[in-house]
Amino acid sequence: MANFFPRWTNVLPLKIAICLGFAGAGVVVGFAYYATPKAQRVGYQPAQPIAYDHALHVGQLGLDCRYCHSFVEHSGQANIPSANTCWNCHQHVRKDSAKLAPLRRAYDKDFAGYDGEPLKWVRVHKNPDYVFFNHSAHVNRGVSCVSCHGKVNEMEVVFQAKSHSMGFCLDCHRSPENHLRPLEEVFNLDYDAEKYLTENEILDASGNRISTQKDLGKFLKAHWNIQSKDSCSTCHR
Ligand code: HEC
Ligand code: HEC
Ligand code: HEC
Ligand code: HEC
Ligand code: HEC
Repeated sequence: MANFFPRWTNVLPLKIAICLGFAGAGVVVGFAYYATPKAQRVGYQPAQPIAYDHALHVGQLGLDCRYCHSFVEHSGQANIPSANTCWNCHQHVRKDSAKLAPLRRAYDKDFAGYDGEPLKWVRVHKNPDYVFFNHSAHVNRGVSCVSCHGKVNEMEVVFQAKSHSMGFCLDCHRSPENHLRPLEEVFNLDYDAEKYLTENEILDASGNRISTQKDLGKFLKAHWNIQSKDSCSTCHR
């Protein structure tokens, strides 16, 4: 990886920068676009212990993200479902499929190879430890999964679709109106703002009908009193 400094030096300039209280835009842009190796993780697509397919379960069967990632609205971390969530269906559906053998090994005591070991899903997205992030703060303020993870509902195997570099976070924190949507659309990864606004009449403060994402975003930003900050201590605490 083209990283000029050994990994341990990364945290040191961060601490120094924060202590000095840099707020200059130049500093931020410099770090954001040149000093963040995370950009190279785009496309990262590890093999998983079971060939679990979001395109099938979400895109075709229509399962909601929260059926499995049930903490995402309530906690900082999203969760990966445990084997019993899968078993709810798969004790009835395609139980004898070879593709589901790892699930039965983990959960089905009647299965010949049962060992009770939890499935070891491989983590795809991971911030460095010095970054603070919180899922519920975003999804309860009209920021959709798709803004940060891409169209997971079309992925047969999950991959990292967006860079998650500091510049990526800051672009939205400075202009959240480009992304905010009504709460009931946060889990709908195929949402289209203009289509939504033709089907739903939303009036701005002066009584005019809203028709573009930007105006809807501004409206929601004011309505929720959104303050997505770019001060260092927002994400580095
Ligand atoms: C039936 C259960 C299920 C549903 C429904 C589901 N997921 Fe998942 N999701 C999983 C499992 C299992 C994994 C871990 C394996 C993998 O990465 O494919 C996962 C992984 C992920 C990851 C990668 C996590 C990481 O390691 O970084 C993201 C992002 C994700 N899901 C988003 C979504 C979104 C968005 C939706 C709704 C549109 C959704 N999921 C619906 C089961 C589910
Ligand atoms: C709401 C019910 C439901 C849940 C929950 C569910 N699945 Fe499925 N799954 C299905 C259905 C339906 C199919 C398609 C079966 C078919 O094609 O005949 C399927 C297919 C699969 C297949 C392909 C099987 C094959 O032989 O082609 C795998 C692998 C799989 N699911 C894994 C999982 C895992 C892992 C989880 C938990 C993270 C999970 N599923 C949760 C309903 C579910
Ligand atoms: C504002 C950006 C953003 C949004 C919106 C977002 N995520 Fe994430 N997601 C991330 C980041 C960043 C990570 C890595 C977090 C870490 O390493 O601490 C992550 C990690 C995950 C993980 C792995 C477990 C974890 O918490 O680290 C899952 C699963 C996941 N996201 C699912 C979802 C689902 C489902 C949604 C929509 C309901 C969603 N995410 C919305 C940025 C986002
Ligand atoms: C698509 C837009 C968007 C992206 C991308 C985004 N954020 Fe945010 N972020 C927001 C909004 C909107 C808020 C809510 C501000 C509010 O409630 O006033 C927020 C709030 C936060 C907060 C404050 C949470 C709290 O508990 O007060 C943190 C921390 C944060 N974001 C970190 C991140 C990090 C780290 C990334 C990149 C990995 C990121 N955000 C990417 C829009 C975004
Ligand atoms: C909205 C969230 C957010 C804010 C605000 C923010 N950062 Fe970051 N910062 C990040 C993320 C995410 C990374 C990790 C990027 C990666 O993994 O490549 C990061 C990484 C860094 C790094 C390490 C770069 C490297 O080479 O790994 C430094 C130094 C840094 N930030 C300094 C700052 C300073 C100084 C400020 C205030 C001017 C600031 N950050 C504000 C999200 C933020």
